[in-house]
Amino acid sequence: MTISHTSAVEEQPTLATERLRLRPYRLDDAPRIKKLAGERDVAEMTRTIPHPYPEGEAERWIQQQPMAWQNGSSVTFAVTLRNKDETIGTVGLFNRQDREAEIGYWIGVPFQGEGYCTEAVEALIGFGIAELGVTRFYASHLKRNPASGAVLRNAGLRKIGKDSIVWRDGVSQEQVELYELLIEDEPPADD
Ligand SMILES: CC(C)(COP(=O)(O)OP(=O)(O)OC[C@H]1O[C@@H](n2cnc3c(N)ncnc32)[C@H](O)[C@@H]1OP(=O)(O)O)[C@@H](O)C(=O)NCCC(=O)NCCS
Repeated sequence: MTISHTSAVEEQPTLATERLRLRPYRLDDAPRIKKLAGERDVAEMTRTIPHPYPEGEAERWIQQQPMAWQNGSSVTFAVTLRNKDETIGTVGLFNRQDREAEIGYWIGVPFQGEGYCTEAVEALIGFGIAELGVTRFYASHLKRNPASGAVLRNAGLRKIGKDSIVWRDGVSQEQVELYELLIEDEPPADD
């Protein structure tokens, strides 16, 4: 994975993997987010993506991202194929605090099952370690969403437990699986 900074040091960089580019979102990505994240199969597996997807929501969300990067609370990347600039999904680090960050992601239905999410999350973790100093990554997924658990295991996280949470309707309970990845500090060099 390579990390490309733009001229301003404080700007969010772009990451490149074998098949993907992970870049900051732009306003012209809004129609793709609405189309791909707006699909029920994607939205209903997440805690935060609304369904049906409201008009103007993608633009509003994209406009929040530079501030979240600047204040250090979260960082999101548009996932694109290397040879095509259109977004196929999102990965991000959320709730950043005390060198900990929560991993979140979705990949559009037409692009699922190709290993793209695994590749993007691996790059995201590499970036989080190298550039943000994150030492604990954590994530959770619905028990009825085993593909998400496979992504987390592929990227090196281990299952640490399970929980029951109130779901999006504010009423129903959902079983979730909890994962984490601890990054050990480098051992001190021998004299
Ligand atoms: C979960 C999601 C991000 C995976 O994206 P993806 O690009 O298809 O992921 P990958 O191709 O990298 O890996 C998918 C893994 O799930 C596995 N998988 C797919 N369907 C599965 C199923 N029904 N049961 C078990 N494993 C399954 C695949 O075999 C693969 O694992 P492997 O590499 O060990 O074989 C995508 O399905 C998605 O966006 N879903 C809706 C939103 C969502 O769930 N977001 C995460 C919320 S926690």
